[in-house]
Amino acid sequence: MTETAKLIIGEKTLEMPIVVGSEGERGIDISKLRQETGAITLDPGYGNTGSCQSAITYIDGDKGILRYRGIPIEEFDHRKHPNFIEVMWLLIFGRLPSEQELAEMRDALTGQAHLHEAMKHHFEGYPVNAPPMAIMSAMLNTLGCFHPEIIDPKDEVQFKAAIANLVSKIRTIAAFTYRRVRGLPYIYADPKRRYCANLLHMMFSMPHEEYHVDDEIEDALNLIFILHADHEQNCSTSTVRMVGSSQANLFASCAAGVCALWGPLHGGANVEVLEMLERIKAGGLSAEQYVEMAKQKDARLMGFGHRVYKNYDPRAKVLKGVCDRVLPKLNVKDPLIDIARRLEELALKDSYFIDRKLYPNVDFYSGIILRAMGIPTDMFTVMFAIGRLPGWIAHWWEQRQDKSSRIARPRQIYTGPVGKHYVPMSKR
Ligand code: ACO
Repeated sequence: MTETAKLIIGEKTLEMPIVVGSEGERGIDISKLRQETGAITLDPGYGNTGSCQSAITYIDGDKGILRYRGIPIEEFDHRKHPNFIEVMWLLIFGRLPSEQELAEMRDALTGQAHLHEAMKHHFEGYPVNAPPMAIMSAMLNTLGCFHPEIIDPKDEVQFKAAIANLVSKIRTIAAFTYRRVRGLPYIYADPKRRYCANLLHMMFSMPHEEYHVDDEIEDALNLIFILHADHEQNCSTSTVRMVGSSQANLFASCAAGVCALWGPLHGGANVEVLEMLERIKAGGLSAEQYVEMAKQKDARLMGFGHRVYKNYDPRAKVLKGVCDRVLPKLNVKDPLIDIARRLEELALKDSYFIDRKLYPNVDFYSGIILRAMGIPTDMFTVMFAIGRLPGWIAHWWEQRQDKSSRIARPRQIYTGPVGKHYVPMSKR
């Protein structure tokens, strides 16, 4: 028997079914609420609102659990196995790929790494100080103009072509953006390299000198992408779904996701971490002084706390392991990384942070690792976007397959003026 919830509004009692998810999460189905009572729910920030049913990712923020298609995130911390492309397949198609499927997808990605030559003109049109996320969003939309045959895939063959196109070309767009703002010549993908190694090659090789991709760095980047690949209905994924719900095409929906990710409270947070570290260093502050300022609310300890995780962010746990493993090997001497380690040490044992359940989040460690890899701060959010693209694609496709999906159109409670009239200009 379906469990129900009762809502009493004035004289009226409304009985609503409770939908139970596969992990026992309960959601009250309020779809008849307005029709039956005239009232709506009010939930700024949607902290209590489920926008859809989804089979892709499960999070339990109180317990610090994150699973992709039922598989705990920690199980992806196997160096080289699995890799980002395998996880992408898992998220989008709901199961791990066979060897043949993975090989076919790899070939398709290799075959799609180039951009139409005409797209290069678009890069030239940006000022050298253009924000990389602005370029990336615009370029994803531009890409759609060059591939009208797959922007709105109708079947699985078209959809796989669209995936290969987007996932391969977002990497090229990212690398070209990096090179454009630095005035460096564009470097094309090397068909012999894997996904992450190729990105580093396209970013850092020079025509006269090939960049040596260290195995540790390639593995760490692979893991960073995997850990960022999906996070259920976060701001950018909800944006992709919102835009996609109007039947907007896949490329446009993902371009909108990039814009949402750009904000400092979302994907921009790892940039904020680095900027905080730079402020601490430039101001001659100690980590102790900064933690004290955060406790007095005179500053915020960026990279700590999370809206959903009131426990250790499981992705941060994995990345902390990468930090501990990779940083000593890279032998990076960086005062900012020293400050970060000290902040982490202090906050983890301070009752202010413990009592409020403020743990390091994924951005705290990803910022440190990306910096140690030589990725500049202005490219951090771009790296996040590459990692998150499989999640956006998976949600866009899931929504398209869902026959009950409707255009997203929230309501509001109007608080503006009432009973006003237009006043002609001569009487104002
Ligand atoms: N430093 C110091 N104090 C903090 C921090 C922090 N980073 N985060 C929260 N607090 C304090 C608040 O001041 C508040 O204290 P109070 O109870 O004395 O008033 C308490 O902890 C609860 O904080 P809220 O703001 O209510 O937490 P909320 O869930 O709304 O915010 C957020 C979460 C935005 C992530 C917040 O913790 C924050 O600003 N962190 C720093 C920015 C950051 O790292 N963002 C990345 C998030 S991960 C992601 O988007 C991929």
